[in-house]
Amino acid sequence: MISKETIVENTKIKHVVHLEEVGSTNDYAKEISKIELIDNLLIVADSQNKGKGRMGKTFFSPKNGLYFSLIIQPKLKIDEIQLITIAAAVALNQTLNDLFHINSKIKWLNDIYIDNKKVSGILTEGVISSSEKYDFIVVGIGINLESPSYLPRDIKHTFTALDKHTKLKLDKNQILINFLNNFEILIENLNKNNEIILDAYRKSCFILDQKVKFKNSEKLYTAIDINSLGHLVVMDDDGFIISLNSGDISIDFKV
Ligand code: BTN
Repeated sequence: MISKETIVENTKIKHVVHLEEVGSTNDYAKEISKIELIDNLLIVADSQNKGKGRMGKTFFSPKNGLYFSLIIQPKLKIDEIQLITIAAAVALNQTLNDLFHINSKIKWLNDIYIDNKKVSGILTEGVISSSEKYDFIVVGIGINLESPSYLPRDIKHTFTALDKHTKLKLDKNQILINFLNNFEILIENLNKNNEIILDAYRKSCFILDQKVKFKNSEKLYTAIDINSLGHLVVMDDDGFIISLNSGDISIDFKV
């Protein structure tokens, strides 16, 4: 059970909205911000019926998962938004490792995997009114806590939930508090020392040094680095190097 008081007492978050069910916590966060923009507002839901993933995909969000969105207003240039996703992935991966002693890893850009299956996804959306900077950013995170009795066909073989990997109690407040505090520290370092965040990301990213393929292409690349903007740098067999941001591609599978 979500306890707003516990979250407020143990983090810098001062406003929490808890909903049993919602379409998407990211959409809710953007809608509510049209009426009043509250920095560091946290929206948490027990289930979503229109959960959104990256690239127009849906995010399966049955009951007993943890789905939340955080509104933040960091001073970032337009092309730096991926750094927020990078920071969120590092913070979340740290939380899962620390609380549940799970060897989770980050799959560039925005997924957390355990044993080659996805346990969590991050969707960062920026809202702008000028081309210079963001008015605010919504960081949305979904974590599969329990394995449901039904799974949609397209995620049947890639889905996993935390209860498969730990016997420890899955306390939503504890997970939120741990994540929010980790994230807060990383965000404070943004634009002061991005390399700290990027290095932590590189260490936990299981794509690096692997052969990768992208949707709609048969060509094989080797993932060689994450650059200073959080883009994935890949090299083909002829040594030709390109960097890709998350909007360009989705990694099909590793080979
Ligand atoms: C992905 O898998 O591509 C990202 C998934 C992000 C899911 C979270 S759940 C909370 C927030 N609300 C949404 O609609 N999406 C994000």
